[in-house]
Amino acid sequence: MSKKLENKVCIITGATSGMGKAIAESFSNEGAKLILSGRNVERGNALAEQLQHAVFVAGDVSEPGYNEKLVQSAIENFGQLDLLSLNAGMLGLGNVVDLPETLWHKTLNVNLSAIFYLCKNAIPFIQKSKGGAIVINTSIAAFKSFPNHPAYCASKAAAAALMKQMAVEYAPNIRINAICPGPVDTPFLWDSAKAFENPDSAVEDAKKATLMQRLGTPEDIAKLSLFLVSEDASWITGTAITIDGGILNS
Ligand SMILES: NC(=O)c1ccc[n+]([C@@H]2O[C@H](COP(=O)([O-])OP(=O)(O)OC[C@H]3O[C@@H](n4cnc5c(N)ncnc54)[C@H](OP(=O)(O)O)[C@@H]3O)[C@@H](O)[C@H]2O)c1
Repeated sequence: MSKKLENKVCIITGATSGMGKAIAESFSNEGAKLILSGRNVERGNALAEQLQHAVFVAGDVSEPGYNEKLVQSAIENFGQLDLLSLNAGMLGLGNVVDLPETLWHKTLNVNLSAIFYLCKNAIPFIQKSKGGAIVINTSIAAFKSFPNHPAYCASKAAAAALMKQMAVEYAPNIRINAICPGPVDTPFLWDSAKAFENPDSAVEDAKKATLMQRLGTPEDIAKLSLFLVSEDASWITGTAITIDGGILNS
């Protein structure tokens, strides 16, 4: 059976941990050639060695020049660019009164502006692809408020709006969608616990609040991401898909 991402080249941000790493493993299994992004050189190089046709390029996604470098690396190494999976994110915790302006700006830069920077550089190449697709990892925080998450909620809602705008602008050549995860068992989720009134029980509370009575796994998210970038989703664009064990509906 042919692989779903044969002859496809994808840049994956946030590939050194959690969902981005699971997405990298899944896309690689389906034949994609990968540019892996993250700041942690040890984890990035280890993943690149583990996967076939994968190159790790270290850097901070909030820097415009680094995003240009990611695209250049795709073209230099593999001669084309077809797909983006944007997962890099940060929490930037603190309520509006206490949040330092620098942390507000950094959170907006990593969670929102970085998407603009990468798409700006990548779209001219993806437009040449047959079957180009972009998946932006936002969050249920795009729709629901969480304590001490003002920068996070605002940046994720804006990322979903940016996705919709770009989907209109670049159809029919490129399909652009967002995934909106609920609580997924990664280091990020455990870090977020300190924003809640009862940090010690926050993750367990989130698990119990899901209709499915479990946290998501990075592999749950990888399956949806694979579906959305593959031809199986060829009639899906401009959509933000919630994947949250039902927590938004509980
Ligand atoms: N876990 C959840 O419950 C949850 C729920 C909804 C949405 N999300 C979203 O899912 C995405 C992935 O999160 P995760 O849960 O998989 O978290 P994770 O395991 O902590 O991974 C976060 C990734 O983002 C990268 N990253 C962070 N800041 C970066 C920067 N400035 N430059 C480059 N890379 C950066 C990290 O790489 P380095 O450390 O190597 O820089 C890491 O690979 C995030 O956008 C997050 O907002 C998470």
